[in-house]
Amino acid sequence: MNITILRFDNIDSTNTEAANQARQGADEGLCVIASQQTAGRGRHGRTWVSEKGSGLYFSIVLRPKIETQFLPLITLMTGIAVYDTLKEFGVEPDIKWVNDILVRERKISGILAETVETATGLAVVVGIGINLTSRNFPDEIADIATSIESESMMMGPRALDPLAVETKLVAFIGYWYEILLGENGRSEIIQNWRQRSSYFSGKSVRVTLPTGTIEGTTDGLEKNGALRVKTPNGSVTIVQAGDVEKLRSQ
Ligand code: BTN
Repeated sequence: MNITILRFDNIDSTNTEAANQARQGADEGLCVIASQQTAGRGRHGRTWVSEKGSGLYFSIVLRPKIETQFLPLITLMTGIAVYDTLKEFGVEPDIKWVNDILVRERKISGILAETVETATGLAVVVGIGINLTSRNFPDEIADIATSIESESMMMGPRALDPLAVETKLVAFIGYWYEILLGENGRSEIIQNWRQRSSYFSGKSVRVTLPTGTIEGTTDGLEKNGALRVKTPNGSVTIVQAGDVEKLRSQ
């Protein structure tokens, strides 16, 4: 994948900008990176806190040649890439289905994948926020979020270089994206996700679905990345979209 980087000091949302670029014909591999977002977006219409210099705010345009039903694997692929990036900086993450990257149950990174209709076909904008420092966290996320600076086993007094994080992230996305599109790519992504996530199986969870809430135990992923949850009556619910919470300490 050819990477082109569009860099901003300040922008509303890198995802919004990348989507506009995709509509205007941007090729796959266009990355939008900002030091600050004034309207950073999370899932379910939430805000993504994006103070200047506190995080990496990154979006990439992809034009994947895969069947629509397998598009959710793009989010899993990105989770793997973010996980591998964090490991390079001495952080021990976990991935909570579908796209939360956690350390000690606190969120260190979020992923927002959005599809965009363009004249040359469907594009996917994958947005990634990675917390670099916890110093400017507002009160409402101070107890539930964390950052590379707070979690790294290897960082000394030297400040974390955002460019180093960005460079690793781009390299891992390129690597795992090629794997996804290659032979057996879909099952490789599922296998690698499994190795990195404690949520793959045997985790007691509550899942908030558009239709209500279920509780059960995770039971692997479907071929398209949907989460299987075994409920106490023995039936399996296939979760295509929903919010997962761990039920008790385990
Ligand atoms: C989540 O809710 O967990 C997803 C958060 C995604 C945040 C990133 S920051 C870069 C990109 N631009 C946005 O507006 N959102 C994503």
